[in-house]
Amino acid sequence: MEQEQTKRIVLGITGGIAAYKAAELLRLLMKQGIEVQVAMTEAACHFITPATMQGLSGKPVFAGQWEAGAANGMAHINLSRAADAIVIAPATADFIAKLAHGLADDLLSALCLARNCPLLVAPAMNREMWLNAATQRNIAQLLADGVRVLGPDSGVQACGEEGMGRMLEAEDLARDIAAFFQPKPFTGKKILITAGPTYEAIDAVRGITNRSSGKMGYAIAQAALELGAEVVLVSGPTALARPRGAQVVDVVSAAQMFGAVKQHAGDCDVFIGVAAVADYRVAQPSEQKIKKSSDALTLELLPNPDILAYVANLPDPPFCVGFAAESENLMEYAEQKRRAKKLPLLVGNLAQRAIGSDDNELVLFDGSGSHVLPRAGKLALARQLMQHITQRYEGAQK
Ligand code: C5P
Repeated sequence: MEQEQTKRIVLGITGGIAAYKAAELLRLLMKQGIEVQVAMTEAACHFITPATMQGLSGKPVFAGQWEAGAANGMAHINLSRAADAIVIAPATADFIAKLAHGLADDLLSALCLARNCPLLVAPAMNREMWLNAATQRNIAQLLADGVRVLGPDSGVQACGEEGMGRMLEAEDLARDIAAFFQPKPFTGKKILITAGPTYEAIDAVRGITNRSSGKMGYAIAQAALELGAEVVLVSGPTALARPRGAQVVDVVSAAQMFGAVKQHAGDCDVFIGVAAVADYRVAQPSEQKIKKSSDALTLELLPNPDILAYVANLPDPPFCVGFAAESENLMEYAEQKRRAKKLPLLVGNLAQRAIGSDDNELVLFDGSGSHVLPRAGKLALARQLMQHITQRYEGAQK
């Protein structure tokens, strides 16, 4: 994550079974360069020990109202003044009720009441507790008070029941918290992204496809969401989790991808074509499985429409970004492709280093030359790429 200065948060842990996830959350936040001060309720200490949180954060943990941690005994004031945000994860139904009513009978609720920084809460509770009218009233109150509510998620719960109320996974929370601190240059803007491969049927069971995991396109969708954009992700078949908050349009063939893109291209501000679209489709796919024989089989292939070129050639095109996966001569072929498709920005990568991998190395080509984004995780690269797109997009608007 690119940050101008180190962000500081108070991570407040309340007494629910999801408290065990707070240790991983703390680790992930610190990995993103965020400074974390932990404060725990007494109940939380029954689920995870202050020693664990102290060991991970490298700082004493505030766990009681009356401890002498702050010289003037004003821990409830001092802690929040030093923070850029307070994050309560997990936030139990009881603690949410306290927040909604402005109670302050322990250190954590007192410091929430005394804060002058944003408050984010990650609810975690049994589904009936979550659905209870009292909890829903309290959540509505928190939202009305400007508190950010992260989750909850649905799924299997510690009690064995299934439904809404699970705390978001640590990874999702860390991502949401990092995103919270980022500027939102794309608020009110729509970014359309294609990702993954397309699949062109030969018959009922066979097809032509490209090797593409979709990981880069999905990471870019995530990074675009973090910058405040409305994201439409047109995705070929992948096994990836959908980025929360994106509108995902599932497609299979290039023709379907083209159809979905046409629907959204008219009112999007940025189009990023990451998909590995099959260049050809079978002229007459068979509805039934073609029987094997010892004869040669000839398939007639027709070229697919170039989706990116179509969008780039619209009368009032969005800011278009293309991808080029080359297996050799990346610098030469990618710049040629950028010019041929009349794109302000093209992202090149070497196919053999990128496909399926969790990390990658990118070369950005624009009118002013090339710029390398060194090898890193795909989400980290996607965030850097989105920074670059932001600058170019804003430049193009002037
Ligand atoms: O020409 P080439 O397929 O290498 O160009 C790659 C770029 O064009 C990628 O951004 C890809 O998503 C896009 N593309 C497309 N429709 C096609 C072929 C490629 O949008 N039929």
